[in-house]
Order: sequence, then structure tokens, then C-alpha cells
Amino acid sequence: MTGASDPVVDVLIAEPVIAERVTGLAKDIARSEPEDLLIVVILKGSFVFAADLIRALDRAGAKPRVDFMTLSSYGKGVKSSGSVTLSRDISEDVAGRHVLIVDDILESGRTLMFARDLMTERGAVSVKTCLLLDKTGKREVPIEADFTGFEIGDRFVIGYGLDLAHRYRGPPYIGVVRGG
Ligand code: IMP
Ligand code: MG
Repeated sequence: MTGASDPVVDVLIAEPVIAERVTGLAKDIARSEPEDLLIVVILKGSFVFAADLIRALDRAGAKPRVDFMTLSSYGKGVKSSGSVTLSRDISEDVAGRHVLIVDDILESGRTLMFARDLMTERGAVSVKTCLLLDKTGKREVPIEADFTGFEIGDRFVIGYGLDLAHRYRGPPYIGVVRGG
């Protein structure tokens, strides 16, 4: 159902383009994968990406463990609130493990920095990061991803798991909200 208040969305990255890139990322990760990799998926935005990436990793021969952590920094709007909140933790023990953090989009860098520091504090042997999207030029803290799907400009995107005020996670493509 669509409503009069739904935003106009233009396709920025189409479904087959995403699929091809996810396969490429999985191959890169599998090539550098240490034994007994633990993937930590940052919810909610990356659940669709993570589901595809984990299946692509399996096809590439990697058999990681997977756990989930919910972090939020956005509240209901399109602007980051600045502070990161941990509302659901992983249950896996991180000490002595090789961790790969998977998230949807890198903007200010605060979410990724929070997650990476937490894994390091808990004694991870190594912490790498895989981000579907990177809003280059928007960084407020110094952090870059080890594996990046696509670089995009400063525009608000939805779909493929990414939300606008907790909606529009469903489209299989990445779309730009017109005027956003
Ligand atoms: P950062 O902490 O500023 O790097 O923001 C990263 C988080 O903000 C991501 O994990 C997303 O959940 C959210 N986010 C940033 N940009 C967008 C966007 O364009 N659409 C939807 N969510 C976004
Ligand atoms: Mg997120």
C-alpha cells in the first residue's frame, strides 16, 4: 500500500548490481578469512545485506559464525543524534576471536567506531569491517572500512534493509529519497 505521504524514491543501485558486488565482497573476505571468523551484524539496517553476504560467503567457501548487535544513532529522523546506543548485545564471546563487523552504511563513523572499539575492548584478536555503503566526505571520526560495497555521495538512501523512520526497508534496490 502506498500513501500520499510516501516519499518519491529514485533507484540509485539496482538489484543485480548489488548482487554482483556482494559476491565480489564475499570473495575478497573469503580470501583473507582467518580460521573461525565471527561475523557481528549491526542491526537493524544491515540485516538484508548480511543475509545475502553470508550466503555469498558460503558459496565462496567461508563458514563463519554469525551474531547480531543492535546499535542506534538516528532516532526517527534522517539526521544522526550523535551518540550511539547499544540496545541488544551479541551472545558470543569475543575474546581471542577474529571478528568481522558488518554494517549497512558508514556516515559519521560513530556507529562503526563504537562497535569496533567494543570488540577490541572485549579482547578480539583482530577486528575488520565490511560496509555496504560509504558516504565519503561525511566522516566525523577517523575510521574507514576494510571492505566497502559502494561509495555514495551525501544523500539519504532507503531500501535493501535501510530505513527512513523505521519504514521502507523492503525494496530490493537502494533508492534515494527525492529531496532527501
Ligand atoms: P554513522 O554512525 O553516522 O556512521 O551512521 C551510520 C548509521 O546511520 C548506519 O548504520 C545507518 O543505520 C544510519 N544511516 C546513515 N545514513 C543513512 C541513510 O542514508 N539511510 C538510512 N540509514 C542511514
Ligand atoms: Mg545501522
